[in-house]
Amino acid sequence: MSGAPAERYERLFTPMALGRREVKNRIAFPAMITGLGAGNRPTERTVAAYARTAAGGAGMVVSEALAVHPTSEPKPFALVTYDPAGWDGFARIAEAVEREDCRMIGQLYHLGRSQLWTTGDARPMGPSALPDFYSGTMPRVMSHGDIAMLTEAFAHSAAMLAARGFSGVELHAAHGHLLSLFLSPWSNHREDAYGGDVTGRTRFLREVIEAIRAATGPDFVVGLKMPGDEGVRGGLRPADAAALFTRVQEGAPVDYVCFAQGTIAPSFGDHVPDMHYPPTPYLDLQRELRAAAGGVPVVAVGRVRSAAEAETTLRSGAADLVALGRALVADPDLPRKARARQEEQIRPGVYCNACWGEVHAGRPAACPVNPGFGLTAQEAAPAAAASARRVTVVGGGVAGLEAARAAADRGHRVTLLAGPRLGGRTRAESRLPGRGDLGRLVVSQEEAARRAGVEVVLGAQAREADVLATAPDAVVLATGARMRPPAALVGTGINDYLATPAGPASGTAVILGEDDGAAVCALAELRASRHPRTVLLTPRLAPAETVPYTSRLGVHRRLSAARVEVVTGAAARGLDGTTLHYENLFTGDPATVDGVGQVVWATARIPVDDLYGPLRRRGLAVHRVGDAHAPATLLTALTQARTVAEEL
Ligand SMILES: Cc1cc2nc3c(=O)[nH]c(=O)nc-3n(C[C@H](O)[C@H](O)[C@H](O)COP(=O)(O)O)c2cc1C
Repeated sequence: MSGAPAERYERLFTPMALGRREVKNRIAFPAMITGLGAGNRPTERTVAAYARTAAGGAGMVVSEALAVHPTSEPKPFALVTYDPAGWDGFARIAEAVEREDCRMIGQLYHLGRSQLWTTGDARPMGPSALPDFYSGTMPRVMSHGDIAMLTEAFAHSAAMLAARGFSGVELHAAHGHLLSLFLSPWSNHREDAYGGDVTGRTRFLREVIEAIRAATGPDFVVGLKMPGDEGVRGGLRPADAAALFTRVQEGAPVDYVCFAQGTIAPSFGDHVPDMHYPPTPYLDLQRELRAAAGGVPVVAVGRVRSAAEAETTLRSGAADLVALGRALVADPDLPRKARARQEEQIRPGVYCNACWGEVHAGRPAACPVNPGFGLTAQEAAPAAAASARRVTVVGGGVAGLEAARAAADRGHRVTLLAGPRLGGRTRAESRLPGRGDLGRLVVSQEEAARRAGVEVVLGAQAREADVLATAPDAVVLATGARMRPPAALVGTGINDYLATPAGPASGTAVILGEDDGAAVCALAELRASRHPRTVLLTPRLAPAETVPYTSRLGVHRRLSAARVEVVTGAAARGLDGTTLHYENLFTGDPATVDGVGQVVWATARIPVDDLYGPLRRRGLAVHRVGDAHAPATLLTALTQARTVAEEL
């Protein structure tokens, strides 16, 4: 695409007023739990992560959700506002971000009835005695005393952040946390002044806003993140959201609003739409809500993947600011690079939700495509190698590309021996329904390897002689993995799941999902669109157990919508004509699927590292990365590829 930045991103890089402050452009970083804290306080890593995002050129950064009261039961890596030991850390975050002429906004919340990390002896609170979908916990119904106590906690927190140099706060009244539980008739069944109609359900929120206004000055920005569509029966829909927001503005106006989707219910994945959602899935919804927002600046959020998509969002009238969350986790320099028209250098997010997966597992957020997340720019810069060596990487999948690029960035002379095409199984997987963003990753890796000076040799699968011909000082094997046909079915002419099965789509399709990750479930969807009946057999308690929770919900939704029959705790025992025999692993009972037209298998992967022994015997330093080392996730494969490259 052509045009100077001013033309291409005419809206995106235009300043605007936010309350009485100014933001230099329309790019916001939304609240994202980094998990980089310790003892509930910001660490060096927390400060570095925010400083890094601001240095990349965003106009506004919203902090991760900060718990305002101990009853919110945060994990030690999550941040809280009520412990004075953390207040210096907040001052450092504000200083580091505002120094970049970027507005630092603190997001305030209370988890409410949801227990994201523990289901132990926590005492969750909520408006009504209704259980949390995620953890199953039943909250204590809040008294008026509890409401007053937390209102004060919100106000104290805002005053503390104002005194530490924050430009404002954002109230987290979305995603099923406490303030949103009060807003929604789905979760608020109260019959007192804090429930019932729009006035009652907004009362707690309005009291919080009023208390914050009273505790801070007129220049302090107060923003709101609230549900636009909860996506649950009996919950808030866009028209309800518009009515609620109008009521809030009448009594306790805010300076901006962000309408978020989903709540802690089967719709929870909607708040972090993964690669299976279309790009900018909420554009129409946001346009509709902005029209109802009465001129208050609206921040659009949700799978806006690039500066171009952000500009389109602005031009379509859906927003005044656009939040780019996972896009900036993947590459915080996106704003700066877009402005300089270096779009091809932007690392695209893959929307795999590995970041949420890590956080839910109690670990710091991590991103497969951004090794530098949580590091300072200095730390993230590749350390030059002590001496430039000849490094040969065998295998052009994502791990091989990553190792090659990372080694070349350190000054090594790198040759990449790949098969006929780059991208390996990830490229093949990207052709399955909803997996397309993986293709963007491969393209950007190819581009990055080229820029780093990697010599790419495409051809047949490399043999020992091919590797030796490159006269390497060190070899990295990224030769991937293969799936072994299930022993019970060898010789029956069934298909590996990535070899898209051809042939007539008659009869029942059976997928043997020993590997039942998101890709295999996507294949089940594909088969279901072609066969009258599709059955997925998994040995586990449920399919996709290894997929991050926020994406697993979508897997289940799609399997249900596609009418895929899931048989859990099952293993195939044989195929007899059109009858598949399997066993219930808990009882040992035999069972069958009849009328089978197609069987596809996805078994656990076995590393392909045949070259390892022979090359070692030649005295070469040989490293294995990615699936060739141990088949695992994209995050593990890419992290390990970089680690090996750093040790060369
Ligand atoms: C790891 C992770 C942590 C998040 N933490 C928060 C949070 O603390 N508060 C919040 O309002 N939203 C949180 N979100 C949601 C984001 O603010 C944002 O709404 C969502 O990621 C969609 O935007 P994106 O498609 O640009 O990533 C989180 C999302 C992720 C992936």
